[in-house]
Amino acid sequence: MPDRFDLVVLGAGPGGYVAAIRAAQLGMKVATIDSRATLGGTCLNVGCIPSKALLDSSELMVLARSELSRHGIGVQNVTLDLAAMMARKDRVVKGLVDGIAHLFKKHRISHFQGTGRLTGQGRVTVTGSDGKSTTLEGAALLLATGSDPAALPTLPFDGTHIVGSTEALSFDRVPAHLIVVGAGYIGLELGSVWARLGAKVTVLEFLPRILGPTDAEIAALVQKSLTKQGLTFHLDTEVLDAKLQGGQVLVRAQSQGKEASFHGDRVLVAVGRRPRTAGLGLEEAGVVLTDRGGFVKVNETFQTSAAGVYAIGDLIGNPMLAHKAMEEGVAFAEQRAGQAVRVNYAAIPSVAYTWPEVSSVGLTEEQVKETGKPYRVGKFPFAASGRARSMGETEGLVKVLADAGTDRLLGVHILGPRASELIAEAVTALEFAGSAEDVARICHAHPTLSEAVAEAARAAFAGMPLHA
Ligand code: NAI
Repeated sequence: MPDRFDLVVLGAGPGGYVAAIRAAQLGMKVATIDSRATLGGTCLNVGCIPSKALLDSSELMVLARSELSRHGIGVQNVTLDLAAMMARKDRVVKGLVDGIAHLFKKHRISHFQGTGRLTGQGRVTVTGSDGKSTTLEGAALLLATGSDPAALPTLPFDGTHIVGSTEALSFDRVPAHLIVVGAGYIGLELGSVWARLGAKVTVLEFLPRILGPTDAEIAALVQKSLTKQGLTFHLDTEVLDAKLQGGQVLVRAQSQGKEASFHGDRVLVAVGRRPRTAGLGLEEAGVVLTDRGGFVKVNETFQTSAAGVYAIGDLIGNPMLAHKAMEEGVAFAEQRAGQAVRVNYAAIPSVAYTWPEVSSVGLTEEQVKETGKPYRVGKFPFAASGRARSMGETEGLVKVLADAGTDRLLGVHILGPRASELIAEAVTALEFAGSAEDVARICHAHPTLSEAVAEAARAAFAGMPLHA
């Protein structure tokens, strides 16, 4: 007799593990399946967490090398012990994945390591690395298997010289010249890490701009800032092919209508991710995929076209963000428990952990323009913030977009110190359908970076900020 559960979750990443925990908290008997030896999926093991660990370490390196002296602090002989930096990153990851294992134990979630496949109504078969199989039964089956890096046919991964983000988080030495293909989140974050640690970094981007979905004004400022930090950008550039030549990769590209070639010792391909649907038995189970992108099609309660089979996270589409998957995991579990919960997709923040950081929520100015409705823009530069000046981090600004008629917030975009944290206030305001005036009139502690958000909101509703 197969083990019976209320919920069987395939994939223990941010979507799956959060759904499992929430369902268990609500009294369900839950099992999870993941082929990885540790819990936490891509995000914890080879994504968000290790990249942030390296971004923080490499930022400290830059501070020690060139910023501390401005504060009157002398540091001599700043050296890099890359192995120690990587070991610290691995400890950070281990602490967090062990933490999830602890939570699973606490909530009596049964975890099965192996590859899961739908094998009949309400059934999943798990095959371990030893080839042994177990079949589980679930009243509901939740697919949360995430995504894999997209490969370029012109630039196939070889695991050493032409790599994806996983390998670029564990290089054993600083590349002399890292060529990054794709100026999206991964390209800019990992490009920043290796540039800070001393690599020459060249970014090749297909589009005429970086960070495609970001507000164009903010993206242009990010490009300027990263260029100052030593990254070189080639926009409008399409990779044609690549070949290995004596340990170097020669990448040929069509750049702004002309042929160009780039030599580097490592190439990071970061051109997006694809939903991980292969091998799950979806077709046999009657789970339908979207024509564009091959995502699993779901309705607003995450139900796929197969009875009893649900899907969340990267598998169901954009934005492919860990926190979106987590929200969906919580909402799914609570819906199973009979609660009327929905994810508000209009208020999902996004963050690029470059330096300065970039964050946003809601519509970009380009999207607002497309609606044709009149709108107001309020901006406030960090150079006019007392806190930012005392920190010595004055680059960037807050940009608030509000409806000209109702003053309702439409979008907030931040480039600056701690933008990743500052965006939470804007998300809250948007969630509560707040206005620019609401944000401007909330009392913000002084001196804090958050005052810049209030000042930009004031500029949107009153026409000008107080301090600029
Ligand atoms: P992305 O979608 O953010 O950026 C990919 C970039 O590659 C785009 O600018 C695209 O125009 C460009 N591109 C596509 N094909 C190309 C080609 N042939 N030649 C040159 N450029 C090309 O994808 P990325 O950076 O790989 O990230 C994958 C996913 O991971 C994203 O969906 C993102 O949401 C998520 N992620 C989120 C992070 C965060 O929240 N901070 C950090 C890292 C990843």
